[in-house]
Amino acid sequence: MSRETVLALLRLEEGGFVSGEHLSRRLGLSRAAVWKAVDALRRDGYDIEARTGLGYRLMAAPDVLTEEELRSLLGKTETVGRKLCCFSQVSSTNTYAKGIALTGAPDGTVVIANSQTAGRGRRDRSFLSPPDRGIYLSVLLRPDLPPERLTPVTAMAGVAVCNAVERVCGVRPGLKWPNDPVLENKKLCGILTEMSVEAESGHVQYLVLGIGLNVLQGPGDFPPELEEIATSLSISLRRNVSRPALAAAEIEALDRLYADLRAGDLSRYLEIYRRDCVNLGKTVQLSGADGSQEIVTAEGIDDTFGLVVRDQAGHVRTVRSGEVSVRGMYGYV
Ligand code: BTN
Repeated sequence: MSRETVLALLRLEEGGFVSGEHLSRRLGLSRAAVWKAVDALRRDGYDIEARTGLGYRLMAAPDVLTEEELRSLLGKTETVGRKLCCFSQVSSTNTYAKGIALTGAPDGTVVIANSQTAGRGRRDRSFLSPPDRGIYLSVLLRPDLPPERLTPVTAMAGVAVCNAVERVCGVRPGLKWPNDPVLENKKLCGILTEMSVEAESGHVQYLVLGIGLNVLQGPGDFPPELEEIATSLSISLRRNVSRPALAAAEIEALDRLYADLRAGDLSRYLEIYRRDCVNLGKTVQLSGADGSQEIVTAEGIDDTFGLVVRDQAGHVRTVRSGEVSVRGMYGYV
């Protein structure tokens, strides 16, 4: 705890010095205990300079998704992130979150991992989750809402991820319907929402929203079958980006999303989604779960984030994310 607070106080100074006396007063600890916390942080990879008469200053932080690092970057959140479960490796953050949902983990618990051995995607696909490259994050939500009020959550999460990326990196990804943030026409992030509903009453027991964001992968890090359709922030921006800063921004954006979802306030998300959806006005291929394929034109987004399409006979209808997947005619988008 003292390490987290020392780190947060050093961060507040943005590279400036903080005196040992100030730290010990704020923490209610002896100067020796402050020194011990600084020493422990250094062993965790933090570069902290100590200067006589000036105190301590944070020179560099490691790119790690630890609770200590995330807490020092996270602003105040209402629900999401109040509890953080951070792992170096886990089978799947969604699977873990579903497990702890059954043992009473609180609303808003975030599970985050540096790598996944069995990351899961939509339609039973796997999600490649190598160590030190991406952010694999799931949030456990226990909304007191009927299932039909929750269908927009995945599309809203797409908007939330784009908000976080824009805030930290200064670039705004587009959104490929239903919810993939994309950069340069390639997939940057995948989102998988899973929900448990009590069959008899229709009561939502929990919802797990899982987000896999490609951050530090280099050009050679994707296998050949993904090279043409996947990208990372590092590849697109041609520079490295801090994963902990992005993870903290994601958690804050998800906290806002959750408050807006409960308040039924979807209008801003819809407006942004319609502006950023890269499929609109384009010819796309719909693939049904049964293997059927159809070429249509994507014309709009309805009020629950359904895709309004015109088929080749000129008929207009709305498709929902559970029914079909969309692929552009000339590539991923
Ligand atoms: C997709 O695009 O098919 C969805 C991919 C979702 C991947 C994320 S990574 C964090 C969370 N844990 C998982 O096993 N899956 C989601």
